[in-house]
Amino acid sequence: MGRIRVLSDVVANKIAAGEVVERPASVVKELLENALDAGASRVRIEVEAGGRRLIRLADDGCGMMRDDALLAFERHATSKLSDVKDLLSIATLGFRGEALPSVASVSRLTLETKAAGEATGTKVEIAGGKMLRCDETAWAGGTTVTVRDLFYNVPARKKFLRSEQTELAHIASLATHYSLAYPEKGFDLMHNGNELLSVSPTGDLRDRVYQVFGSGVMEDLVDLGVIEREFAIHEDDESGSRRFALRGFVSQPQIQKLNRNSIYLFVNGRLIRDRLLLHAIHAAYHNLIPPNAYPFALLFLECSPEEVDVNVHPSKTEVRFRRQSFVHDFARDSIREALMAARPISSLPLGRTPQPAAGLPYSEFSQQMEGLETPVLPAPEPEGASAPRTDAWPWRPSPDGSEFALRAPVNEHTPRFDFSDPLPAASPRPAGRIPDTHGPLPPGLLADPSTSLDTLRDLRPIGQLHESFIVAAGRDGLWIIDQHVAHERILFEKVLRQIEAGAVERQQMLLPILIELTAEQQVDYSRIAGDLESVGFEIEPFGPRTVAVKAAPADLSVGEVEKVVFEILETADQPLRRVSVEELRRDMAASIACRAAIKINTPLDARRMGWLLAELAATRFPMSCPHGRPIALRYATREILRGFHRI
Ligand SMILES: Nc1ncnc2c1ncn2[C@@H]1O[C@H](COP(=O)(O)OP(=O)(O)OP(=O)(O)O)[C@@H](O)[C@H]1O
Ligand SMILES: [Mg+2]
Repeated sequence: MGRIRVLSDVVANKIAAGEVVERPASVVKELLENALDAGASRVRIEVEAGGRRLIRLADDGCGMMRDDALLAFERHATSKLSDVKDLLSIATLGFRGEALPSVASVSRLTLETKAAGEATGTKVEIAGGKMLRCDETAWAGGTTVTVRDLFYNVPARKKFLRSEQTELAHIASLATHYSLAYPEKGFDLMHNGNELLSVSPTGDLRDRVYQVFGSGVMEDLVDLGVIEREFAIHEDDESGSRRFALRGFVSQPQIQKLNRNSIYLFVNGRLIRDRLLLHAIHAAYHNLIPPNAYPFALLFLECSPEEVDVNVHPSKTEVRFRRQSFVHDFARDSIREALMAARPISSLPLGRTPQPAAGLPYSEFSQQMEGLETPVLPAPEPEGASAPRTDAWPWRPSPDGSEFALRAPVNEHTPRFDFSDPLPAASPRPAGRIPDTHGPLPPGLLADPSTSLDTLRDLRPIGQLHESFIVAAGRDGLWIIDQHVAHERILFEKVLRQIEAGAVERQQMLLPILIELTAEQQVDYSRIAGDLESVGFEIEPFGPRTVAVKAAPADLSVGEVEKVVFEILETADQPLRRVSVEELRRDMAASIACRAAIKINTPLDARRMGWLLAELAATRFPMSCPHGRPIALRYATREILRGFHRI
């Protein structure tokens, strides 16, 4: 890193100004970003009392020479940019020269540092922005910043701090997510002497996710891999192409969050909040999860620094893309395609009772995780307005406290089954192996724990539960399929295919169905008349406020036609839904499919069950209905064997 210089007023005035230090996690964020900019390969964070009493961050980065260590506390003193032009392509996390002076003005701060090649190190002490001393010190290398008594001189700000646990949760979330963004670096986080996070450098993002969350979480995530797309530039003063790359993980649709606190977005290694990308994620999950639910997402977008303006928010938590619609569609399509390709399933929502075990005691761990209203520093939702606390953290602590396990995929739509009651996993296991008096296990029983829905093809229907759910035997366990939503998915995809091919099957009404519309519905109707036709309706005006339906999509029974028309008009009326014709058509197809699908409480014979399963297996996305409800639950053979204490 070059030498530090004080920015000219011209440059300084162009930098988004505002509050830098809001809470302990903001201090951690600034120090962490400085360490990363300094090329550190290992970062150690120590925190006491949720960061109010102490925050210490030690790095093994390039360090600073004595003059720089002093200059670093001047406002607008930075080594990361020099003139106005540099503001257009910022490649470092820091650029304002604001962080250290801001932190030093509201705390007692000590900086210890040594640049490579220097004989001695430097120790600087500042309190409330006043320089107390600057001494030579013996120092091995790298930089350590210790921040004590945050806001000791700003009581008003101190009052706004939340509980120790909440502040700690913000810090933990921040450190965790930065560790995910930089898998090639090591991170340690200690709180009151207890280790909360310790990950060593690894070359691979998957390994880092595994290190941080444990293996269980992976099963519920879809790995995007690395998706690249070029943007061709044909502008007067510029031509060529720009490369965008997206990688990361998104949750399978059965994981549904009540708010967007589990969505983490990184642009060029910087944790940000961004409406555009949030919308892209929402659009990718359209028809896969309910509109009011959110997925978990961990996304890393890389692009050239000129493509993104990071100088739009004082705490550097927002960005502006130069090519907004390209970035939006790139993210949406990449996520959607990965979800389609994964074809994942829900497993039965068997609650596993956490039990204290070795390592950090569970009680202590859960105490530390108490009060997790909003887990990440750039709190995306207003506090208090957020969802129940249990949903705030994407993972709950697992029994041994050493890793996190994804919350069971239960939501209000998930059917509950009686046999989830005598919970195999929760019952005490007899010590030692059980003598196998019941004969050996059939070969291959445990061979395939895969959760691919391809196994659907081999399902053998056993019968129906409450004339609503098909119970089927599969290679990999016992399956329960919601007959209504399964059929809905089949019809939805069929209608969509027909719309795309411009060959919708329709039925002529013997007598036109007359529908009376309100003024508002008439407006909506005239707006989407063409779209209604494209999904199979033939509707004509019939008097001032009435329309006549002469033909309707083939699968609908005559009694449902009016309801579907009203439903579609209602969907079209929601301002947020006017996003695209494509989405409107999907909504229309979803309405038709829902109305035309076999209802629950309908007896089915073996032949019809077999047909339904085969058709479901042939769909592109057989794991959730167009409204986002799960279709199939699986009780894995492994769970069954475990329940009978056979393994
Ligand atoms: N951990 C560190 N290792 C080496 N140099 C550092 C470290 N922390 C800060 N510096 C130096 O001190 C300067 C000032 O840091 P400061 O965080 O105040 O500003 P910045 O990182 O340049 O911009 P920003 O305010 O956006 O963070 C940096 O530009 C960098 O040269
Ligand atoms: Mg900085």
